[in-house]
Amino acid sequence: MSGTATPKVRPAREGEAAAAADLHARRITEGFLPTLGAPFLARLYRRIVRDPGSFLVVAVDRDRVVGMCACTEDLGELYRTFVLRDGAIAAVRSAPRILRRWRRVVETLRYPAAEGAPDLPEAEVLAVAVDAARSGEGIGRLVVEAALAEFDRRGTARVKVVAGGDNAAALGLYRATGFVDAARIEVHEGTESVVLVRSAP
Ligand SMILES: CC(C)(COP(=O)(O)OP(=O)(O)OC[C@H]1O[C@@H](n2cnc3c(N)ncnc32)[C@H](O)[C@@H]1OP(=O)(O)O)[C@@H](O)C(=O)NCCC(=O)NCCS
Repeated sequence: MSGTATPKVRPAREGEAAAAADLHARRITEGFLPTLGAPFLARLYRRIVRDPGSFLVVAVDRDRVVGMCACTEDLGELYRTFVLRDGAIAAVRSAPRILRRWRRVVETLRYPAAEGAPDLPEAEVLAVAVDAARSGEGIGRLVVEAALAEFDRRGTARVKVVAGGDNAAALGLYRATGFVDAARIEVHEGTESVVLVRSAP
């Protein structure tokens, strides 16, 4: 059978969180989260599935997660719940890595307050990734559009997303799905990122 069948796009089941985390780790090199270790990332994704204010959309082809989009209505609340409910175990498992990278953790948690990024919504597309073998087939657009439909269903007026200034594929995808550039920030020293915002129709 060809590998280009249109995957099924739907909310993730809890058992798919690890596969989505794995896709994140393999495909998203610009962030620091994958460097915190697979158990940490898998726990964060499981929390995203469980948290009523967050959700994970997956594209599934023959039982394989080939694309995902992780979202939250309130990033601060998601991180607070993650630290309170999952933090201890996750931190123990990846403590040395977290300690080495603590500065980056703090920079990332506080970036919405960064200078030059005023009036940004709390709601956020946290990550989008598509299996490298399936890129360019429209799967990224499918998962982002499904995520935006879910934000609309929840009544979320504005949603932000952050992409590396040199990540042409991500910037192209977000601009193609209704996001507009809102600010340029330095999330990590020396690395420029673009914050884009999408308003509900
Ligand atoms: C970004 C990513 C999710 C795009 O997924 P994709 O399935 O390949 O994208 P699609 O085929 O759905 O393309 C949708 C739109 O994105 C844009 N796009 C996709 N790849 C692009 C590229 N390399 N350059 C510029 N624009 C691109 C196009 O505007 C395209 O619209 P079109 O179909 O009208 O041409 C994928 O490249 C990926 O997983 N990248 C690594 C992870 C990452 O960087 N994620 C974002 C940071 S969180």
